Amino acid sequence: MAIAFANKGANLVINDINLDNLKETRDLILKSIKTDILLAKADISNFEEVKQMSKQVFSQFDNVYILVNNAGVRGIGKKASSFSLVAKEAEYDRIMNVNVKGAWNMTKVFSKKMRNQTFKPITGKLINITSCAGTDCGANPFIGIYSASKAALIMFTKLWALELGANNITVNAICPGIFFTPIYESREFIKEWMKLRKVSLPINRIGETTDVADVALFLASPAADYITGQNIILDGGMTVSINKL
Ligand SMILES: NC(=O)c1ccc[n+]([C@@H]2O[C@H](COP(=O)([O-])OP(=O)(O)OC[C@H]3O[C@@H](n4cnc5c(N)ncnc54)[C@H](O)[C@@H]3O)[C@@H](O)[C@H]2O)c1
Repeated sequence: MAIAFANKGANLVINDINLDNLKETRDLILKSIKTDILLAKADISNFEEVKQMSKQVFSQFDNVYILVNNAGVRGIGKKASSFSLVAKEAEYDRIMNVNVKGAWNMTKVFSKKMRNQTFKPITGKLINITSCAGTDCGANPFIGIYSASKAALIMFTKLWALELGANNITVNAICPGIFFTPIYESREFIKEWMKLRKVSLPINRIGETTDVADVALFLASPAADYITGQNIILDGGMTVSINKL
């Protein structure tokens, strides 16, 4: 998404707890695109760190048109010990604090600035990255707390669309199915999980990160100015096929 937005001329703030990965992303972008990129290292589950990070952001940039809440953690998810009712409290807190509270912290802090912007017709755009695990078809005990956290983020997407609509801020979510990224330890894990849940993908391939970036570009564009409160499922048809094929 960072590469895609930079390609369209956006200046970027990219935030992560892992600064090395951010530097890699920045260097990759700057190889072919000339744009301003600020690296930030806030733990989004910590409100104070998010507030400090926003000060750093607004000392360099004077507005924020697009906020993407992308950071997320999956949880253990390999055996029955990861079922939600046997998970340790620390695991519950870790997943909920990043996936739900983290997006809430970020939205609270950055929507404040967006509300006072004068861009027309839309003053700002918020994009949450949810997951099919948080939809009715995707409830999955092997990543139970993660499923619940993403369901909460889907509901927050709708709530924030209601709360920020009067300020002409749109709030939508991209809801990915299965994408091979570092969130999974291996492709084998994905295959095992798909077998377990009897998942077959009507569009028979694992998703690419560029698929997500394309939808993010669409949501950020004027073509999506009248769309708000939606959770756009991007899963090659997985959620309509689960337990059906
Ligand atoms: N990969 C998939 O199949 C898939 C499917 C559905 C949803 N998602 C969602 O997509 C988003 C991106 O995940 P990904 O697949 O690229 O995995 P990823 O692990 O590569 O990316 C997640 C990033 O979040 C960062 N992060 C974790 N905790 C943080 C914190 N407290 N503060 C700041 N940054 C933090 C990590 O360092 C990491 O760089 C996540 O929200 C994930 O739940 C992924």
